[in-house]
Amino acid sequence: MVPGCEGMAAVQAFVQAVPVAAHARVKAHRPRPAAEGVGPFKPSVPSRTGQAAGAAAVFALGAWVSRQRHSVRCQRKANVVELAPGAWPAESITHPSEVAKPPEDLSEQRKKAWAELSASADVWPAPENDRLLRAARGESVDRAPKWMMRQAGRYLPEYLAMLSHTDFFTVCKTPELACEITLQPYRRYPSLDSLIIFSDILVIPVAMGMNCRMEPKVGPQFDFALETPEDMEKLNLTPDVEATLSYVFDAVYWTRQQVKNKVPVIGFSGAPWTLMGYMVEGGAVRSFDRAKKWLYLYPEASRKLLSALRDIVVEYLVGQFDSGAPLLTVFDTNCGEIPPRLYDEFCVPDLKYIATEVKKRRPGALVSVFPKDGEMATFEDSDFDVVGVSWTTSPAEARRSCPSKTLQGNLDPHLLYADTEQIRERTVAMVKEFGVPKYICNLGHGMVPTHPVEGPKAFMEAVDSVSSEDAPSPQLPAK
Ligand code: CP3
Repeated sequence: MVPGCEGMAAVQAFVQAVPVAAHARVKAHRPRPAAEGVGPFKPSVPSRTGQAAGAAAVFALGAWVSRQRHSVRCQRKANVVELAPGAWPAESITHPSEVAKPPEDLSEQRKKAWAELSASADVWPAPENDRLLRAARGESVDRAPKWMMRQAGRYLPEYLAMLSHTDFFTVCKTPELACEITLQPYRRYPSLDSLIIFSDILVIPVAMGMNCRMEPKVGPQFDFALETPEDMEKLNLTPDVEATLSYVFDAVYWTRQQVKNKVPVIGFSGAPWTLMGYMVEGGAVRSFDRAKKWLYLYPEASRKLLSALRDIVVEYLVGQFDSGAPLLTVFDTNCGEIPPRLYDEFCVPDLKYIATEVKKRRPGALVSVFPKDGEMATFEDSDFDVVGVSWTTSPAEARRSCPSKTLQGNLDPHLLYADTEQIRERTVAMVKEFGVPKYICNLGHGMVPTHPVEGPKAFMEAVDSVSSEDAPSPQLPAK
C-alpha cells in the first residue's frame, strides 16, 4: 500500500478490476457534443451533474491521483506528480464511459465509404489544415507544419487516467478509446498540424500470432520470442490484414470523423527490421543482440521473416490510407543498430519496395520513413516523400543527404525539459537551419513519460512564430 493512498486504494482497485464494458454501464450521462470532443483542452470547467456522473468522476480522479502518488514514490520522475491532487479537475478527464461510441457497423461503413470514394477519386478530401500534406508534397506553406513523435500518451496525465481503466492493447483494439487518446494532445495543443493514430507498431506481430502485453515500467512483452527459425512455425506469415487489424482501420476512420477532418490523421507501421528486432528479443530490451545475431546465423530465415513483414506492412499501410490516413509513416527505430552494409543488404530493398508498392497501389498516398540514426542518403533515391531526421544529424547534413525530399525532425527531445526561453530559441534556430520549404517540424525522436507538458507548448509556439519568409531554403555551403 502506498502511504497516503489508503482512502483511494479501494476506489483504484475497483476501477482497475472493472473492464471498460462495465464502466460503460455506469454511464456518466453527460454526452459531450462532438465539437467539444475536438476543442482545446480546458483546465477548469463546471462540474458534472448527476449521481452516476459524480461517481464516474470520483473513480477517474481517484484512480488517477492514486497512480500519481504511487508513481511519485516508485518512479520519482514522472512529471505528472507536479500537479497537486485536486489541481487536476476530474471534469477535464474524459471517462471511458463518456467517450462517444461508434456505430456497431463502423467497419462496414468504413469499407463502403472507401469503395464509394475510390470509384471517383484516389484521395480523401483534404483536411481543413493541410499544411502537413502540402509540405510532404513539397508545395509552399505559410509556416512549417508540426507534430511530435509519440505525442499521444505517456507524458500526458489524461492518458495515464485513461490507461488506469484498461490495458494498453485493449485501448488499441477499441476504436473509440484509441481515438480519444489520439485527440488528447490536440485538445491540449490545438495548433498541432497533425494527429498520429494511437496504436503501436507491435500490432503486426500480434496479428501474426504473437500475443503481447504492455508491462508497466517494462514495456511490451510477447508471450514467446523467436529464439530459432523453428519458432517461425508458430507464426502466421500471411495473416488476413483486414480481419486481424480492422480495429486500427476503424480507429483511423472514426478519428477522422471525430476530428471533422480539421487536421490529417497520420497512419504508421514499424519497419520490418524494427519489428523483427522485437519479435526475436521477445519484447522491449536495451540491446538487440539476439536479433543482430539472427542476421548472421540465420540469413535465410531472417530474409523470410523480413519479407513476410514487408508484405504485411504494405497491406497494413494501404488499409490505413483507405480508412482516411493520407500520410503513412514507417518507423525504423532500430535502423542505427546495425552497420550500414547489413542495413543495405537486409533492410533497404524492403523499405524501398514498401514505398513503391504503396504508391503504386494508392498514388494519392504520401509516405514517410524514419531511419533512426541511419544513413539518410540511402533514401534520396526512393519513393518516400518524407525522410525523418534523428537528433544525431545536423539540419545541414540532412539537407545535403536528401536534397530532393521533404525532411522531418529533429529537435533533441531532451530540450523539452529546458526553460521556455531555451526551447523557443533552439526551435526557431532549427526551423531556420532547415528552412520552411519542404520541412515538417518534429522532434528527433519521441516524447517520453517524464516530459513536462509545458515543453511542447513552447516548442509549438516557436514553430508558429517562423514564417516561410523568415526561413527560406538554406544555401548550403559545400562540405
Ligand atoms: O506517437 C504516438 O504517440 C502514437 C502512438 C504510438 C505508440 N507507439 C504508443 C505507445 C506510436 C507511433 C508508437 C510507435 C512505436 N512503438 C515505436 C516506433 C517509434 C518510436 O517511438 O521509436 C516503437 C519502437 C514501439 C514499441 C514500443 N511501444 C516500446 C519499445 C514501448 C515501451 C517503451 C516506451 O517507449 O514507452 C512501447 C510503449 C508505448 N507505445 C506506449 C505508448 C503510448 C507507452 C505505454 C505505456 O507505458 O502506457
